[in-house]
Amino acid sequence: MARRTFELKSIDFPEGMSMSENNIEIVCTNNGPLRVIGDGIVLKDAQGNTFGLGGRHIISLCRCGHSENKPFCDGSHARVGFQSEIQARELPPPPPKP
Ligand code: FES
Repeated sequence: MARRTFELKSIDFPEGMSMSENNIEIVCTNNGPLRVIGDGIVLKDAQGNTFGLGGRHIISLCRCGHSENKPFCDGSHARVGFQSEIQARELPPPPPKP
């Protein structure tokens, strides 16, 4: 499958957001979606089919469960009063495989 790449020079990132070195960044927004920022975002369904993202360099994925357009955020998190403030932390190493 061919990956599409995008030129990002004209993107204005929301305050506090920037690109990571691998050009994909996921931000857990407070009380809102997971914001995916980058060039060449690939989003697939469970069958492995790729979503057409219309050339977007930023997408928001619902984490409140109330969007009518899953997996994308449609703003319903605000209507339902979804609350979740996440702080970055270290995860323990994954358990060894049997
Ligand atoms: S996070 Fe926005 S609709 Fe669920």
